[in-house]
Amino acid sequence: MRSPSSIAFYRGQAQEVSGMLRKLARRLQTEWRRLANKDVVQAYSTMFRQFVGLLPVYVLAGRSTPQTQPSSGHDGGAALLDGHGHGGHGHGHAHGHGAGHDHEGRPAGGTDIAAVNQAREVFDEVLYHLLIVAENTSDFSRLATVALELDRYSERSRRDLQQLQSETGAGGRLLPAPPGGPFWLQVEDLTLWAPGEPRRLLVKELSVAMTGGDRLLICGPSGAGKTTLLRAIAGLWLQWTGSIRREMDARRVMFLPQRPYIQVGTLREQLLYPFGAGSDCSHGAGGAAATDDELKQIMQRVGLQPVLLRVQGDLGARRRWAEELSVGEQQRVSIARILVHKPAFAILDEATSANDTGHELTMYRCVQETCSAFVSVGHRESIEAFHTGKLTLLGEGQQGQWTLEPL
Ligand SMILES: Nc1ncnc2c1ncn2[C@@H]1O[C@H](COP(=O)(O)OP(=O)(O)OP(=O)(O)O)[C@@H](O)[C@H]1O
Ligand SMILES: [Mg+2]
Repeated sequence: MRSPSSIAFYRGQAQEVSGMLRKLARRLQTEWRRLANKDVVQAYSTMFRQFVGLLPVYVLAGRSTPQTQPSSGHDGGAALLDGHGHGGHGHGHAHGHGAGHDHEGRPAGGTDIAAVNQAREVFDEVLYHLLIVAENTSDFSRLATVALELDRYSERSRRDLQQLQSETGAGGRLLPAPPGGPFWLQVEDLTLWAPGEPRRLLVKELSVAMTGGDRLLICGPSGAGKTTLLRAIAGLWLQWTGSIRREMDARRVMFLPQRPYIQVGTLREQLLYPFGAGSDCSHGAGGAAATDDELKQIMQRVGLQPVLLRVQGDLGARRRWAEELSVGEQQRVSIARILVHKPAFAILDEATSANDTGHELTMYRCVQETCSAFVSVGHRESIEAFHTGKLTLLGEGQQGQWTLEPL
């Protein structure tokens, strides 16, 4: 996810501005085309109404037998001219009444007025339903465009997956861990690729299983595939073979990504994310909803008291938190979410890496006290003490090799 501060950090402003201008020009073009289409559709729709309003008069006038003595003083002719009986749909149809009448306003050829009125009512009914379609043509066409786009996207994803399966022999199977079994996470014979051409092997034939109480540290050089492995476990990555069984209940297993996600909203909402206030999932294992006092205690525990002081203890403070909080503070917010929701298991991708050693140790202590088992990616030796095993991915040029050792 991009943020303005990271763009500035990379000196990427010029590229961002030109990209935005290109997008704006494309958007203007699309909008212009849409408006033009809408006008044409509306013009057709108006003509259609005018034309259909005349149809019953024409049809019946053509069929009726001419009368030599028009029924003088027949009120129905005037009623017809006055736009009588439009079916009660409140559409205010613009009926044309100029054709097919003599100068006194009687229907040409002495057509039976009752028959004309009846026909008009039937036509009104049909017209009403046709107009629903005509008036919503532009919405229908937008819907069709979106549907086509989604269809193209899903077709492309299906083709990519099929290609991978034909190249590698199979797709991986992500399954729920058997209930009551000893393992909450079980990876068997997993082979994992990075995307792109040529497809690069990241991990080959990995098997590892975790019970409650196990805490696995994943290490390896940058680009070795640590995040990709966690994505496969989370179900966000498809380019792998083998099988992964894990706890699937989102209330029992929580993933903390490498880049913390900070919402637009109040401080309280940051802490309650991803389940929000009032949902079952914000109640944690103890079943009690997190009160403001509890949230404040949690903030203090993870080292966020300076932030709390900055807002004078007001958890309802609404700021641009993604920009205001340092990355280290954002990571402490992530750890606070674990204390709020108390999942049984956690999967952390460098969730403490931007913090100094002191904060990092506090954060790990919080996770260890809250979760019965966890997997975490990290580089510093100081965090090894919080783990019971270490998986090292050897990285680029090592044909997906790895080592697994107890700590
Ligand atoms: N969406 C993607 N498209 C193309 N290549 C990708 C994508 N995601 C990851 N990769 C590549 O896959 C390889 C593994 O990436 P991954 O993020 O898993 O590494 P990592 O071990 O987590 O590295 P780091 O320690 O820097 O976080 C890298 O070479 C990366 O460039
Ligand atoms: Mg990573």
